[in-house]
Amino acid sequence: MAGTGVETEQAGWSSRWAFILAAVGAAVGLGNIWRFPTLAGENGGGAFVLFYILCVIFLGLPLVLSEIVIGRHGRKDAAGSVAKVAQDSGVSTNWAILGGIGIIAAFCILSTYSIIAGWVIYYAGVMGADFFGALFSGDPFASALAGEAPEAIGGRMDSLFANVPLLIVMHTLFMGVTIWIVARGVLSGIEKAATYLMPAFFVLLITITAYGAFTGEFARAVSFLFTPDFSRLTPPIMNQALGQALFSMSLSSAALITYGAYVSRETRLPPVAGMIGLADTGVAIVAGLMIFPIVFAAGLDPAAGATLIFRSLPLAFNAMPAGALIGFLFFVLIFFAALTSSISLLEAVTAWAMRRFAWSRHRAALVAGGAIYAVGALCALSLNVLSDVRLLSFWPSFAEADIMNALDGVVGTILLPVAALLTAIFIGWKADRNLVVAETGLEGGLFALWRFLIAWLCPLAVTLILLFGLFPGLLGS
Ligand code: PHE
Repeated sequence: MAGTGVETEQAGWSSRWAFILAAVGAAVGLGNIWRFPTLAGENGGGAFVLFYILCVIFLGLPLVLSEIVIGRHGRKDAAGSVAKVAQDSGVSTNWAILGGIGIIAAFCILSTYSIIAGWVIYYAGVMGADFFGALFSGDPFASALAGEAPEAIGGRMDSLFANVPLLIVMHTLFMGVTIWIVARGVLSGIEKAATYLMPAFFVLLITITAYGAFTGEFARAVSFLFTPDFSRLTPPIMNQALGQALFSMSLSSAALITYGAYVSRETRLPPVAGMIGLADTGVAIVAGLMIFPIVFAAGLDPAAGATLIFRSLPLAFNAMPAGALIGFLFFVLIFFAALTSSISLLEAVTAWAMRRFAWSRHRAALVAGGAIYAVGALCALSLNVLSDVRLLSFWPSFAEADIMNALDGVVGTILLPVAALLTAIFIGWKADRNLVVAETGLEGGLFALWRFLIAWLCPLAVTLILLFGLFPGLLGS
């Protein structure tokens, strides 16, 4: 693990598989199981899903490879790694700004992420108590929340939102565990967590999807997700799909560059990038196929929005055989996925703080985590006491957004696409060609294809999507 001894390297992953698990863990998260079904549901399914997949293949995959390349060459935090690549390419180290934007994005994402992960913990607790209660009274196949009326189940979300101490306790728990793991380090913290949590995640995912396929309206879910209605595909929705693709693949937010810095020089990167993209997109689609059959079987509205899996799904678990058990497993699954992602977000900020202030890992994780925790607490309050605060009231697209939605919206539709644009220009045009060829290990036609996507298609497509997404009026109405 000490590397070749030529450089004083930071700790690295113990193996190629460890890196893949950690990176897939970073990619697979609330983005796949909560945000993707929410957006697909709100935006009418098929056409959104199709455009999302196009973004993944043509923009996301080439960017995943680019970010890991930057990290592995730079062997530092995101800003430091970009600066190193810039330096070795003889261009301005100001390009480090793209790493900086990513670190800011990671900071913002984690502060909202932790609140939603807190809801997950709460529901895992409720469903778990219900399941174990039923189990001990001899009824392991009970439905969830059996004694409760549907209104009471739906109303749980409102009571949770109104309960400041409870929201803060959940937020504290989630950030606490995240900080603890990141503070333990790359090998005994991050890698270890991923090697336990990710396999468990996949087992749960398959179990629940199979359950939904047999008991729910699978065919309807398939047609909802895959029959495109192109009239629904407006530029703002395309912008959301792009933002979601970047978010879901952990792009533009310093995480992959940072994890790339711990990859051994021997690892061939293109297959790894492909695996990350495939796993991430696969899980998003499977999550859709896990959630929508249950939603349709229970006659719920797929366009329910951010509360879909929290307000709506428990109603379904209430009506299903073994609903208590499945509901409990479902929220445990999301918790595992969220944790491996939050770890990567905090690591991205922590690695930067360690270099920038020459802090120890413990200190950096604690301070960075603490700052994120404070902003997160504001987001929690935006669900209740601060629900009327409109930070971006001057901005039509976000005029109605509360603190948490404003943060989420700005990051998803602006910060991530901008960082992606800069990354593509930097790698496609500024970075030294030999350096890039050597790091990617791509040759011939494959290199030409990748370089075309990153140097031409990404900048062009991202610019257009950003422009028309933010100013749909430009297209005339
Ligand atoms: N990709 C994660 C998810 O889908 C979120 C994430 C974004 C993690 C950016 C790291 C960096 O939930």
